[in-house]
Amino acid sequence: MGKTAVVYWSGTGNTEAMAKAITEGLKSENSEVTLYNVSEITAEQALDFERLVLGCPSMGAEVLEEMEFDPFFSDIEKGLSGKKVALFGSYGWGDGEWMRDWQSRTEATGASLFEEGLIINETPSEDDLAQCAQFGARFSRF
Ligand SMILES: Cc1cc2nc3c(=O)[nH]c(=O)nc-3n(C[C@H](O)[C@H](O)[C@H](O)COP(=O)(O)O)c2cc1C
Repeated sequence: MGKTAVVYWSGTGNTEAMAKAITEGLKSENSEVTLYNVSEITAEQALDFERLVLGCPSMGAEVLEEMEFDPFFSDIEKGLSGKKVALFGSYGWGDGEWMRDWQSRTEATGASLFEEGLIINETPSEDDLAQCAQFGARFSRF
């Protein structure tokens, strides 16, 4: 099993809480995993990982955050073919459109997309965090 990076952007901490719980789930299955805020890793460094777990909330009008995360994703997009990728993020009043669009964009790269992106409404509850940990644990076996 290859190394995994969890890379996220979070404005108010909800997606960050998800990222931490997913990382714990990966570790519980003995995955070699590193957690990064998107500001801490370059696209080139991210593409050294065979397995990527990417998190970004719904921002703007049903889009990825546009200052940091979308540019990062655009930079790695051309290198994702053949990699195993999982997506997650928190949202507010929408219906998850940003995640559906992000999934399509990821599949179009030739990456192997894990399940459906995990979406949580606003601040994750204890149950939601347990769901995040299980998502991470399942991705370890993907
Ligand atoms: C500028 C801005 C734009 C947003 N746009 C959307 C949106 O289009 N659809 C939606 O469901 N939620 C939207 N939200 C709500 C966030 O996705 C939600 O609060 C989420 O929990 C934030 O995650 P974070 O704490 O990781 O930043 C928006 C929030 C902000 C601040």
